Amino acid sequence: MPFIIAIDGPAASGKGTIARALASHFGFHHLDTGLLYRATGAKGGDPIVSARDLTPDDLQRPDLRSAAAGQAASRVAAIPEVREALREFQLRFASQEPGAVLDGRDIGTVICPDAQVKLYVIASDEVRAARRAAELGSDVADMLNELQQRDRRDSQRAAAPLRPATDAIVIDTTDLAIEQAIATAIAAVQSARELRPR
Ligand code: CDP
Ligand code: CDP
Repeated sequence: MPFIIAIDGPAASGKGTIARALASHFGFHHLDTGLLYRATGAKGGDPIVSARDLTPDDLQRPDLRSAAAGQAASRVAAIPEVREALREFQLRFASQEPGAVLDGRDIGTVICPDAQVKLYVIASDEVRAARRAAELGSDVADMLNELQQRDRRDSQRAAAPLRPATDAIVIDTTDLAIEQAIATAIAAVQSARELRPR
């Protein structure tokens, strides 16, 4: 059985940074599931068809990290058939030995409810906006607006809304430097591995 680490949380909370570091530390595969929704939104046309026909090239499109692509992603992500179309790929990815780290919104709640470790990464709205604005070279106030709007849509939708799994470990990165956030996550995974050896 592969070891699965599910990481969820609101926009720009530090999920991806933690997911990449855990994958590299433990030698696991990593999937940024947000990219699937961003690529679906960016493809245009009927989002259900776009999600079903997603190709590796679609994941390489330029500008997938932009705020506009984030908004488009969150709109198509509310469509149940889009989520269903992207589910199979995520499940196959999660089944790879020796283990996989997936980060998104519904990994611990819907995609991998039996994951050995579930992390829910949060940070204050202001800190998240400042970090993402610095990353994209954009205005902090605009970014705060963008993130809050997306979080609202992601939490309030009927299909796989953003929320922590009941057994998720919450990591608040508001006052943590990247290295501290990573160390906290590694420690959480390590203690879960000791409690539930493979
Ligand atoms: O994947 P997610 O959107 O949740 O966030 P991310 O892309 O990992 O992090 C958003 C930005 O915050 C990146 O520029 C990270 O380098 C930065 N970051 C940070 O400054 N401090 C942390 N503890 C975690 C992330
Ligand atoms: O990096 P950031 O947290 O800003 O966004 P992302 O993880 O790339 O996700 C972009 C959008 O895709 C989110 O706002 C969600 O609407 C959607 N998404 C989702 O619904 N389920 C996932 N597992 C991952 C992303």
